[in-house]
Amino acid sequence: MISLNSVSKKIGARVLFDGITTTFSEGNRYGLTGPNGAGKSTLLKIIMGLEEPTSGSVSLPNTVGYLKQNIEDYKDARLVDVVMMGNPRLWNTLVERDNLYEQEMTDEIGIRLGELEEIIGEEDGYSAESDAEILLSGMGLEENLHAEKMHSVPTDRQFRVMLCQALFGTPKALILDEPTNHLDLESIGWLEQFLHNYSGVLIVVSHDRHFLNAVTTHIADIDYETLIIYPGNYDNMLIAKTASRDRTEDENKSKEKKVAQLREFVSRFGAGTRASQVQSRLREIDRLQPQDLKKSNIQRPYIRFYPPEKPSGQIVFKTERVCKSYDDKTVIDNFSFEVNRGDKIGIIGNNGKGKTTLIKLLAGAIHSDGGKVEPGHQVQIGYFPQNHGEIVDKKSPITAFEWLKSKKSGVYDQDIRSILGKMLFGGDDAFKSLGHLSGGETARLIIGALMLCNYNVLLLDEPNNHLDLEAVSALAWALEDYKGTVLVASHDRDLINKSCNKILAFEDSKIRLFDGTLDEYFATLKK
Ligand SMILES: Nc1ncnc2c1ncn2[C@@H]1O[C@H](COP(=O)(O)OP(=O)(O)OP(=O)(O)O)[C@@H](O)[C@H]1O
Ligand SMILES: [Mg+2]
Repeated sequence: MISLNSVSKKIGARVLFDGITTTFSEGNRYGLTGPNGAGKSTLLKIIMGLEEPTSGSVSLPNTVGYLKQNIEDYKDARLVDVVMMGNPRLWNTLVERDNLYEQEMTDEIGIRLGELEEIIGEEDGYSAESDAEILLSGMGLEENLHAEKMHSVPTDRQFRVMLCQALFGTPKALILDEPTNHLDLESIGWLEQFLHNYSGVLIVVSHDRHFLNAVTTHIADIDYETLIIYPGNYDNMLIAKTASRDRTEDENKSKEKKVAQLREFVSRFGAGTRASQVQSRLREIDRLQPQDLKKSNIQRPYIRFYPPEKPSGQIVFKTERVCKSYDDKTVIDNFSFEVNRGDKIGIIGNNGKGKTTLIKLLAGAIHSDGGKVEPGHQVQIGYFPQNHGEIVDKKSPITAFEWLKSKKSGVYDQDIRSILGKMLFGGDDAFKSLGHLSGGETARLIIGALMLCNYNVLLLDEPNNHLDLEAVSALAWALEDYKGTVLVASHDRDLINKSCNKILAFEDSKIRLFDGTLDEYFATLKK
């Protein structure tokens, strides 16, 4: 059981949530929802003791698994070690033991080694490595990768390793912040099944409606500066939430009407002889004060990619017999294709099939092992990487405003402010430092840069990860409306269906370019 006792968090003048008192019980699976920037990750960090609440307290079971997002910090560690780091007490002990073995043996070191071995025993340390390997294999990471360093495996696989880290040691509570980002439908299915069989308390943040509906027994929604738990899945929550909001609004309306009638009576007779009646009306007016409705923090960004100043040539990309391998694994094999101006290509396929590799090759972020990748005439590429850290350095002290301004020389401050406003960084939010931005806010900032620079080609690698539903639908609309060329990799069917007229499918044995929408593509598979 996880309980929160009057937990509040204020950041500057902004209240994220105020006085949350609630319990998350064993056997229940809670979806933690709310728009980008609502404070979901902050609440999880408070629960984990990684961030201080402004007031209030939290109580937790003794083992809690937590999915971290900071893959960069692990880039030089072996996969199997990253998993074992999921038990910090054990991991720190193992590290200390290995260090001590490298030193000259003394009595003191001998005694300390004895103590360490005891802790390792308590924490099941002797089977730790094989337990970690079982998890990695279960997550689809082949055995030959287990001893590899994190940076040598593709990003989506690194996120799976982080998931194994959270699951290591079968914790009594599991806290997952957006676990389905970077996972393909098959792995999401695996995770759904896994979570169904999990018997502890689960709290999971996600913007993926299908996933929430499949997994959760309750929804804990952050809005109106508080957290409300609704029984049922995400769709049930939406109905209950709207109904309760409508009810309060209706009550307020009828109260307002009543108050207006009472006021009229008071103003008509206030100076006259019916003093006692006027007094009782005044008391009634006080009693009827409409319930103060806190504003909902759901907002929609305004995304629009302006027509490029110079259109590209008719052919935007041409690849000829391109090959790319990582170590001995061939990801792209003799691939030839052509992208024409105005194509809106949705790139789909399971994890590890090479979607990101292809996008990076086209963006010029990596080079092919053989064959040719040729950008066409006057092609200006805007690139949205799958891993935001590639272009937004969370450790840098600069602000969102400064970052965006650095993307275009000679741009006026008011143009930057205007784009930031559209991306929902109003007022002082423009001057938040990069390290403080939530996942969704970071994605919105990168989209802002794509809006600013008038590119004629957009290469987007899972841009919908981290974004809330409002922002994803605004993005779909903007891509549909855009006059340039788009290649977008995503597992979000709605996004691709709305915005793309061609599909590049990474199928089991080949990459197929299909001329039509995603629904039309799927229809061909059923035949
Ligand atoms: N130290 C800080 N200074 C200023 N603002 C901060 C700080 N830490 C967090 N914030 C802001 O608090 C808000 C909540 O952040 P949080 O990461 O919890 O959001 P979230 O609900 O997880 O969003 P997302 O869905 O995008 O992941 C955001 O607007 C964020 O920019
Ligand atoms: Mg978050």
